[in-house]
This record gives sequence, structure tokens and C-alpha cells, in this order.
Amino acid sequence: MALIAFESRLTVCFVTILLEPSTATSVVGRRARPRRYLMCPPDHFAVTYVINPWMNLAEPVDPALARRQWDVLRQIYLDLGHTVELIAAVPGLPDMVFAANGGLITDGHALGVRFAHPERAGEASAYLSWLRGAGLRSVTEAEQVNEGEGDFLVVGGGRDQLILAGTGFRTTPGAHAEVTRLFGLPVVSLRLVDPRFYHLDTALAVLDEHIVAYYPEAFNAASRRTLRQLFPDAILATARDAAVFGLNAVSDGRHVVLSERATRLSEQLRERGYQPIGVDLSELHKAGGGAKCCTLEIRS
Ligand code: ARG
Repeated sequence: MALIAFESRLTVCFVTILLEPSTATSVVGRRARPRRYLMCPPDHFAVTYVINPWMNLAEPVDPALARRQWDVLRQIYLDLGHTVELIAAVPGLPDMVFAANGGLITDGHALGVRFAHPERAGEASAYLSWLRGAGLRSVTEAEQVNEGEGDFLVVGGGRDQLILAGTGFRTTPGAHAEVTRLFGLPVVSLRLVDPRFYHLDTALAVLDEHIVAYYPEAFNAASRRTLRQLFPDAILATARDAAVFGLNAVSDGRHVVLSERATRLSEQLRERGYQPIGVDLSELHKAGGGAKCCTLEIRS
């Protein structure tokens, strides 16, 4: 059923693209793959502490608006034919809406999380119990500090996978080693140096099997060299688009859901054959989050 909806949506997209001759040739090649996402409704979302430079106790959050914005994001995924599962929000855990920080799952194997800040520590067990009930092949509790898909991004598929791993602010190098041992995949450590981009998923987006977009200045010189070597065809984001959380994007291989304020990045994506879908997540941005932060991919 879901698959049929997905394909019919693709047909709709294809027709739209044919009406835009300037992008038609490049777009045809990009293929979407149906995804399974986990999201957490922003039922208890608020900014009640400060653990990143975006959070400001003096700037109030509008909870009703946050809910509407989050609903739009969820509906976009559903309209694209993806599966969205929900975890119940826990009172007293205002950042739990950022489901990307709930785990790392690939090939049906999951690693739980261990937060760097005590304010978020309580989320780890909630996400772990959800993962244990999700029908996965294995679920392992984390020993080292790691903030899930906030800092671990899977590139490629099948035997060709590698994991990009951020460190510098939250996830530790010890957790990179833990992921290497657990998943048996190559793990590429990348050092973040700008506190505004404190999680890897704020500075780098995986667009499809082998293409990424990133903001070079968020990384130290050695990591920039590594990224240049690994991804010579990467899209390089501007400082402006990075600062509006443009790289905190969710791609299904063809559609890229990202901040509607990242206008140049949307153009760059279109030039490369992707279909950007802009969203307004202004309220979640007040806690330092965007589309990707709200979305954990369950790779079964
Ligand atoms: N306030 C949260 C924190 O600082 C935001 C988390 C955003 N999540 C992400 N995947 N980048 O931890």
C-alpha cells in the first residue's frame, strides 16, 4: 500500500519536472528510496536550559507553532511515501523532539545513545526502549558518549557503507571506536570546530549513496582534507545557508527536506538534480535544531 502511494507520488514529481526544462536532464537520474523514520512530537518542547549557542532563555518558544511546524514536516515525509513512527514524548525532556539523537541504526543493528549533557540524559533510556520494541536484529546500550545520528551519518548502502562520525562538542572519539567495533564498518572521524555547528548533522548532509553537502568552515583543516578526498563532488554550502540550518537536511535520494531559508543551497541542490522541499522550523531552531534533528532513520 505504502509502496503504491510512493510510486504514484514519484510520477507526480516526474510530471512537474518535465514542466521545468532547465532542470529536466539532471533530475531524471535521482531516485528516491522509501524510508522508515522515527519522530517524537514536540509535546513538551521548550527552551529551559542552554547547551548550544542557539538556545536563549530570554527568547520564548511558541509551543503551538512548534507543533504545527513539526506536523508539516511529518506530513511531508508521509506524502513522499515514507513511514513515520512515533515515540511518546516524556515530560521534563524538552529536547526529546530531536529524535536524530536517539540512536544509530544500520542493517537492523542499533546502538543506543549516551548524552554529553545531564539535561538530556533521561532521553537515552526512552529511546533505547523504543528501539528494543522496534523489531530490529540487535540493540546495544552505549558505553561511550554519543548523540546518535546527530554525530553519526551513514553514507552508501550494502557492503559499500561507511559512517561519518563527528566529534569536538558532543560525541567522543571513544564512541567512534565503539561504533567501529559494533558495526564493523569504516568510520571516518571528523572534528567540528565551530560551536554553532556542534553536531555533525548541522554541518553536513548525506544526499544519496555517495554525495554529501557540507560547510567546510565547520571542520578543522585535517577533516576538510579528508572530506575533499572522500567527496570531490560534494556541494559546498555558504556560511549563510549553514547558519539557517540548511545542512540539517533529510534526503531520500531525490527529495531533500531542508530549511526554506537556505535559498542558495536549494538552488545548488536543484542544479545537481535533487528536488529541495523547504520547511519552516523556526521554533525548533530556537533550540538549535532543524529537519534532520527531528528525524531518526531506522535502517532495517
Ligand atoms: N537542544 C538540542 C541540543 O543541544 C538540539 C539537538 C539538535 N539535534 C541534532 N541532531 N543536531 O542537544
